[in-house]
Amino acid sequence: MAKKLWGSRFQKKTNVLVDKFTSSISYDYRLAKYDILGSIAHATMLGKQKIIPVADANAIVKGLSIILKDVENGKFKPNFQAEDIHSNIQELLENKIGKASERLHTARSRNDQIVLDIKLYLKDEVVVLAGGISCLQKSILDFAKKNINVIVPSYTHLQVAQCVLLAHHLLAYIEFLERDKERIIDASKRIDSMPLGSCALSGTGLNIDREFVRKQLGFKSVTANSIDSVSDRDFVIEVLAGLSITAVHLSRIAEDLILWSTKEFNFIDIDFSFCTGSSIMPHKKNPDVLELIRGYTGNIIGDLSSVLVLMKGLPLSYNRDLQLDKPKLFDGIDTVKNMLEILPQIFGNIKINKDVVAKRVMDESLFSVDVVEYLIRKGLSYRQAHDIVGKMVKDCLDKGKNISSLSNSDLKKYSDKFNPDVKKILNAWASISLKISSGSTNPRLVSAQIRAWEKKLG
Ligand code: ARG
Repeated sequence: MAKKLWGSRFQKKTNVLVDKFTSSISYDYRLAKYDILGSIAHATMLGKQKIIPVADANAIVKGLSIILKDVENGKFKPNFQAEDIHSNIQELLENKIGKASERLHTARSRNDQIVLDIKLYLKDEVVVLAGGISCLQKSILDFAKKNINVIVPSYTHLQVAQCVLLAHHLLAYIEFLERDKERIIDASKRIDSMPLGSCALSGTGLNIDREFVRKQLGFKSVTANSIDSVSDRDFVIEVLAGLSITAVHLSRIAEDLILWSTKEFNFIDIDFSFCTGSSIMPHKKNPDVLELIRGYTGNIIGDLSSVLVLMKGLPLSYNRDLQLDKPKLFDGIDTVKNMLEILPQIFGNIKINKDVVAKRVMDESLFSVDVVEYLIRKGLSYRQAHDIVGKMVKDCLDKGKNISSLSNSDLKKYSDKFNPDVKKILNAWASISLKISSGSTNPRLVSAQIRAWEKKLG
């Protein structure tokens, strides 16, 4: 194990197994950039406040800036013998500037330092995630526009229900993705509070300037309670909750596409470049990417529940258990980012089997509600209309007939309200055009929605 930030009171070297067991460098090295940025702001403040000599503060800032460049250029190699990223950077700094580096940890603890690192990391990641969601929304919107006249059967209970514009179905995705984006951006409000200066848990007797550090690091506020600052990880949970909901949505999109690409549905073809084959069955073209989106969603929900369980029994304030939030947080963020990267590509390469869906929407059972509403418009109660159409559907199914093939006198047997004009509504285009309520699949309303989203997503 490399040099420790503690140890003077220890009469013995720690057991190597302890070093190995407690180390977090294998994952928290990813926070190097944020750890350094925090230290630069902290050292600058210590110098300004004359808590440490200005010359030492300058030396620290200079040394850290060089290490930061290495991190940004990908030249930083973590020392996997270090206990954590904080010790690793401290050691690098010592090697660079010597004695002055020993003043950096004044009025600071790793307990507030790690919270700062995660918060800075999350402030960046939230922007990337929100951008990724917008990008997916745009690709879905493009796909909707490309297929604006396509009508598909829609399902409840996975049984054929009613016709909708494909674009209407796709706009549902865009709606829930927008809420996902809002949730993640909203979580960032509660991340935007600067914890440094809380130190181990009670603050410090040294005359630090937290407001100055806040400004340097671009936080909106400073945290108001030092114990809360170092104890809680609700902001990690909140992001993971937002990511879990997002992933569940992505998983449902994936499931729709999987289903639609089956031979049984055959609504769409997913491009070969986004499918895989079978080692034994030569005919197979499998949607593995989409299945993995569904599968990884379980991991992300697992990440959320891990951190919730991690927190539930912890006495205030800091406990080492808190270290274990990071592998979960990183996994959740990386996984959702990967999903958001690949899904737009898939949407950009889907082909709709227009002839197939056109045939499917000729199924007259899709129009049963339209016929019910036809009768309601003629004065029947909902109950009467439902019963009449139910009987018609049953008889037609028994006799292998369509409603549209019934003669006028046949129709009158069910209700004298029927006129030959009822046959005009027994087609998909009429069915969607008859819908007039706001938020419905009416083509005019759907087009307006598309224009609104075009404007919003830019
Ligand atoms: N690695 C720890 C974490 O992620 C920070 C170090 C705090 N260690 C300590 N002994 N107080 O939470």
